[in-house]
Amino acid sequence: MEWHGQVKSWADDRYPRSRAYELDWMMDNMMGPNALWLMESLTERLHLEPGMRVLDMGCGKALSSIFLAKEFDVQVWATDLWIGAGENWTGSSRRASRISCVRSTPRLTTSRSLLGSSTPW
Ligand SMILES: C[S@@+](CC[C@H](N)C(=O)[O-])C[C@H]1O[C@@H](n2cnc3c(N)ncnc32)[C@H](O)[C@@H]1O
Repeated sequence: MEWHGQVKSWADDRYPRSRAYELDWMMDNMMGPNALWLMESLTERLHLEPGMRVLDMGCGKALSSIFLAKEFDVQVWATDLWIGAGENWTGSSRRASRISCVRSTPRLTTSRSLLGSSTPW
């Protein structure tokens, strides 16, 4: 088995939730270490309940925001310094409900709410 096949096999076992997401989508939007694997590890210890509000500070292209909203039905406020709220809002996160992309300013003043989106993930 090739090394990447071994890694995939290990990752599929270790991160069963992340396995459900398309690899191409992950690769296209990752800006650092695998954000879904990090979120899946974190949420093994972080207790989240539906409806909770989560601030995803430094969300990048909102991979982690989408994962949290979809997997735990929490309401995510996503903000990033380099990636504008408009870019995230028109990008892949538009397909997820319960995410609000917020422009990163010292006061987090501008938001474009996606709440109520009827498009299923
Ligand atoms: C290595 S990238 C990771 C992005 C994302 N979390 C991911 O895993 O794909 C770090 C991100 O942190 C953001 N960032 C750094 N300082 C920030 C700040 N003060 N407020 C908001 N975002 C910040 C950057 O804009 C950048 O997109």
